[in-house]
Amino acid sequence: MNQIVRPDSMARIVTKELADAFIAEQVKEIREQVGEKKVLLALSGGVDSSVVAALLIKAIGKQLVCVHVNHGLMRKGESEQVIEVFGKELDANLVYVDATDRFLDLLKGEADPEKKRKIIGGEFIKVFDEEASKLSGISFLAQGTIYPDILESDGVEAHHNVGGLPEDMQFELVEPVKLLYKDEVRVVGEALGLPRNMVYRQPFPGPGLGVRCLGAITRDRLHALREADAILREEFDNCGLAGKVWQYFIAVPDFKSVGVKNGKRYEGWPAIIRAVNTTDAMTATIEEIPYEILHRITDRITHEVDGINRVLLDLTPKPIGTIEWE
Ligand code: XMP
Repeated sequence: MNQIVRPDSMARIVTKELADAFIAEQVKEIREQVGEKKVLLALSGGVDSSVVAALLIKAIGKQLVCVHVNHGLMRKGESEQVIEVFGKELDANLVYVDATDRFLDLLKGEADPEKKRKIIGGEFIKVFDEEASKLSGISFLAQGTIYPDILESDGVEAHHNVGGLPEDMQFELVEPVKLLYKDEVRVVGEALGLPRNMVYRQPFPGPGLGVRCLGAITRDRLHALREADAILREEFDNCGLAGKVWQYFIAVPDFKSVGVKNGKRYEGWPAIIRAVNTTDAMTATIEEIPYEILHRITDRITHEVDGINRVLLDLTPKPIGTIEWE
């Protein structure tokens, strides 16, 4: 993998014209590589796998089988969008697996962050493997590998690569965006007609909300986290911060504090806002959110989300705080 080098002569894809040329070239190459055979793709709904899916659908249509595993730790509306865009609009061959119960049952009572990651990563491979073995005649595995993945393949954050696929799978790889940087993948995605919110999605960890529902995950707290996160995203969309801030999300710890709601004692969890800017995720600074917006977010989360009774703001840069809490 490390031997792959982007040629110096390769121009950076910054316009729709350049993206269209790249797409035409890749469609031709994919058709030549794949012929009449079938290709399997794990489609998370993230930028890279979505762009690979759209490229392959354009090149080989129903010869591509997309498997979307919903591990129950997706953000609000994400799996639904995968079904809508790929299953309906692009009419892809899409296998949707709702494995929520499997993941949440396995995670029950597990509070250790690394063990949680291992459970999620391990179970993802199992579910994907099971789906793959139900399909016949698959010869290729498509992957959304991008150039920074190749550059960083022996880098520091190797523990982040959970959600990857088994290395012993007997498939030849199709990796059409492996020489592209993230910004180029986005330009290609837009040229392919994918929705803007999918193409410009902020980074989202493989273990999803699992590393933001701190400690041992419970369904009620996970639900509260998902709803609070959706409100944060909506408010950031409305005030324009969404296009400016690199990564923003809510984390919900597993302790409660006393509050009061409708004149009654109301014990609830705090929702912690984290909004950071970075270029490479190795260091990060804090976005200054105007107080007016913070007040609106606090008001909405504490009134609309069951189980939350306080909203806190994380002011810690990286280092010393990592971006995620776990
Ligand atoms: P940290 O928390 O280490 O995160 O400062 C740096 C970036 O990596 C993302 N991240 C992950 N991505 N699987 C992933 O695919 C993971 O387990 C994981 N943990 C953190 C994080 O969201 C941030 O963008």
